[in-house]
Amino acid sequence: MEQNKHKTIISNVLVIGSGGAGLRAAIEASERGVEVTVIGKRLKEDVHTVLAAGGINASFGNVDSDDCWEQHFADTMIEGYGLSEPRMVEIMAKEAPELVKEVDNWGANFQKLDNGNIDQRFFGAHTYRRTCYSGDYTGRSILNALINKAKTLKIPIYDSQYVTELLVYNTICFGAMTFNIKNGERTVFLADSVILAAGGHTRIWRKSSSRRNENTGDGFYLGLKAGCTLTDMELVQFHPTGMVIPEEIAGTLVTEAVRGEGGHLINSKGERYMEKYDAERMELSTRDRVAMANYTEIIEGRATPNGGVYLDISHKSKEFIIDKLPRMYRQFLDTLMIDISKQAMEVAPTAHYSMGGIVVKADDHSTGIEGLYAAGEVTGGLHGANRLGGNSLAEILIFGKRAGAAAAHRSLNMDIQQRSRQVIRDAHAKIDSFIKNGNEVARPLQRALRNIMWEHCGVIRNEDSLKAGLEKINALKESMKDLDVRPDSEGYEDLMLAFDLEASIMSAEATILGAIERKESRGAHQRNDFEKTKDDFNANFKLTLNNDGSLHIFKADLLTISAELKDVINKTKVITDFEGMLLE
Ligand code: FUM
Repeated sequence: MEQNKHKTIISNVLVIGSGGAGLRAAIEASERGVEVTVIGKRLKEDVHTVLAAGGINASFGNVDSDDCWEQHFADTMIEGYGLSEPRMVEIMAKEAPELVKEVDNWGANFQKLDNGNIDQRFFGAHTYRRTCYSGDYTGRSILNALINKAKTLKIPIYDSQYVTELLVYNTICFGAMTFNIKNGERTVFLADSVILAAGGHTRIWRKSSSRRNENTGDGFYLGLKAGCTLTDMELVQFHPTGMVIPEEIAGTLVTEAVRGEGGHLINSKGERYMEKYDAERMELSTRDRVAMANYTEIIEGRATPNGGVYLDISHKSKEFIIDKLPRMYRQFLDTLMIDISKQAMEVAPTAHYSMGGIVVKADDHSTGIEGLYAAGEVTGGLHGANRLGGNSLAEILIFGKRAGAAAAHRSLNMDIQQRSRQVIRDAHAKIDSFIKNGNEVARPLQRALRNIMWEHCGVIRNEDSLKAGLEKINALKESMKDLDVRPDSEGYEDLMLAFDLEASIMSAEATILGAIERKESRGAHQRNDFEKTKDDFNANFKLTLNNDGSLHIFKADLLTISAELKDVINKTKVITDFEGMLLE
């Protein structure tokens, strides 16, 4: 395409990301009377939300009648090892029931009890059965309901749009620059408010529950370049159970619902080893503990033939498994010809969720850049050092809705809109700078980065290895300067990969910098050179971008917990306590 040529699409609110958070935001903004446009890089029916499997949390108390928002709040705060943002957790725990009911009414079709109420299953580290579900494809059910709702509101959703830059002038965001991945056509999307809902960065680990070309850290990159602050980047959740074979899909999620429905973890000696790690909660301990337990069994020599541990649900009937875990049943048959009602699965930890992300205000998810909001996995604050399974689907609905409301409110109250032609010209120039012949190809460099992150910033970390990883990343940065990017008959995928690689490298560096600074072990961040949780690190590590493009990291105090919320925790049932959490 000719330089500086683009289409322009104008709306009041632009939503970047067509997953659950983005769609819920778009629906809210539209219902508040503004024009909304949604853009996404994947096909709207195949966004990352479809991979969310086992469920969504809401303290209905339909199965365990003692449950209440206070207990959901306390469980989340405690299992986040004190780093979660209390107000955000309060909002989630209070609002989840209403939003779960709403999306069920829109067609999410959650499993029901005989009395018509939504059924709830156990998920790790929840005091009560709180996780609502549709088999083991809850994310897909929710997404389908949101797509249908968006359709009734006539919200346009453009797919194959790769966002290269948020358009920001004088710290006010006024849109985004994109190119079409199929044909390279550039579009400037202008808007009064922009909502970034572009996901996390866990695809940058060799073993990941994300698929190719998703969760590459592009959301963090866009946010940082727009002037946002990132927090807690070192806090990356390793899900205890990813597939170990076949190699091409190693890391693919094996849902926690398998354990929630009674699955056992067993090592090569036939031992149900969770007894050693958390005798009370066993397989339904916290994700960080189960992931560490699996990892320990593997590295201490009690691994399965393919280097994992066994996850066995074959003591349940085939009918039960097909009813509760239909996707898992199909996944193992399709990929390995294993019938999980007869045979155990082999599983191992896999990079699953970015608990850190863009700093936002709890109530409206504003980012500090005027006109820019964020929602979903791209944001930080809710999950602290260890996310409870099922909280992420609650998060996307609740904070998607709140971001949509705030974005619409800003638009409806605006008088003058700011635009800058120079900022748009610069965005074109950035794209042009990538299209050139060179000697390096993005895909293998992305693979090298994934290997570096797995080896140097994986389940267990230490300073020497993290620093060695950083050096290797610096070498990758040099290679990036000589990238070969040439659009061809297959489209503009090379260009997307080049941007993704730059974003992934920046996100990787931010993660390693945070991991070096957090000289302790806490939740998902485990260091073998600092094995204890320390009070000095009841703090967040935050990052911003310097003018020269380098990252600046600093330690920031936690937002304080109000006396009322402290009281909520103290009055609820606490299953475990742990070193380092200040709840006095
Ligand atoms: O295992 C799972 O189904 C994952 C759920 C979650 O991460 O919330």
